[in-house]
Amino acid sequence: MLLPGNAKLDPMSTPDQQHSSAHLVDRHPRITGTELVATLVPPPQFDHATFDSYRPDPDYPSQAEARDLLRAFAEPEPQIGRGGFLGFGRKKRGDESRPSGPAKPGVYLDGGFGVGKTHLLAATWHATAGRKYFGTFIQYTALVGALGYDGAVGVLQGARLICIDEFELDDPGDTMLMTRLIKDLTATGSRIVATSNTPPNALGEGRFAAADFMREIQAMSDRFVAVRIDGVDYRQRDITGDAVALSEDAYRFALADASTAGERTTDDSFEDLVAHLATVHPSSYAGLLDGVGCIGLRDVYELTDQSAALRFVAFIDRVYDAQIPIRATGLPLTSIFGGGMLDGGYRKKYLRCMSRLNALTSSEIER
Ligand SMILES: Nc1ncnc2c1ncn2[C@@H]1O[C@H](COP(=O)(O)OP(=O)(O)OP(=O)(O)O)[C@@H](O)[C@H]1O
Ligand SMILES: [Mg+2]
Repeated sequence: MLLPGNAKLDPMSTPDQQHSSAHLVDRHPRITGTELVATLVPPPQFDHATFDSYRPDPDYPSQAEARDLLRAFAEPEPQIGRGGFLGFGRKKRGDESRPSGPAKPGVYLDGGFGVGKTHLLAATWHATAGRKYFGTFIQYTALVGALGYDGAVGVLQGARLICIDEFELDDPGDTMLMTRLIKDLTATGSRIVATSNTPPNALGEGRFAAADFMREIQAMSDRFVAVRIDGVDYRQRDITGDAVALSEDAYRFALADASTAGERTTDDSFEDLVAHLATVHPSSYAGLLDGVGCIGLRDVYELTDQSAALRFVAFIDRVYDAQIPIRATGLPLTSIFGGGMLDGGYRKKYLRCMSRLNALTSSEIER
């Protein structure tokens, strides 16, 4: 799986440069609003994700149901009445077998880790004609940060489909912003599909005084048909156990090996990277990874600061999007969430990150 973000070495670089690792901490990416808009497409890993390439697990009927519902949602709507989505979900005469979709402008797909939510989201995006956007929740909040609320609405408004991956409400600011954005965009005819590890009525629970925002959260939830999707983590079907931690020698060997294979490698201490992530906006984390083919992290240790841990999670999300293998020494990366973090409100977020770290440190991702 070779991705644009993993371009081969610059042919102009000297052999010496080709075999030395760069440092992530030397990179200071800043993404502009215009660049952000250009990134609102599915990650390359999902370029070929379709409803047909999604293989529902027969043990979990919710998978086939979710696929069928989204397939119907993505179908061109019959031209009935004004207001676009009003016609959605009506069965055409003689088409009684077609699953009926929701008469709401949005679908909210909530489910466990690695059950194919992003795959289905990307499949919906690919199957929809017209102007459309695909981004993570963080990308949309960053867009508002960069362009202002009116500027972001100006870009998104009138789109036929807006896909929001990894929907989470972490604080009151996000909550006010996203509930308003969804209200304004659906009011002008856009359809929204969101995925999350949290059902809509539990958004924000354990993270902030979500009860104070119940009215907004409820009004937003009402615009979605909520679909629960169960299953086993697809990534773990062949991968079990802890993230791989290497000895010093094996680490050096792994980076040299990747470098010889023509990949640009990076080499940082875990401590330095964690500190550096605090200086870069999470929406620019993808920029840290431009051209990187293998990430080396030395001396991994347990994190006890929640903010640092959440930033690392956001970073790993981008590494996972780009499918860049990680080679690490010290504590297995799946054991870094300490200090009771795994029992708090972000538990699912950490568990999902661990599932991703497991995949990224395994040789499955070797290229
Ligand atoms: N039923 C399936 N059929 C085919 N491929 C699948 C299926 N489920 C997952 N995959 C593949 O497994 C990988 C993980 O799935 P995906 O990222 O869509 O899961 P997710 O539910 O979004 O996970 P997360 O909670 O980490 O966001 C992807 O490469 C995806 O294409
Ligand atoms: Mg996902």
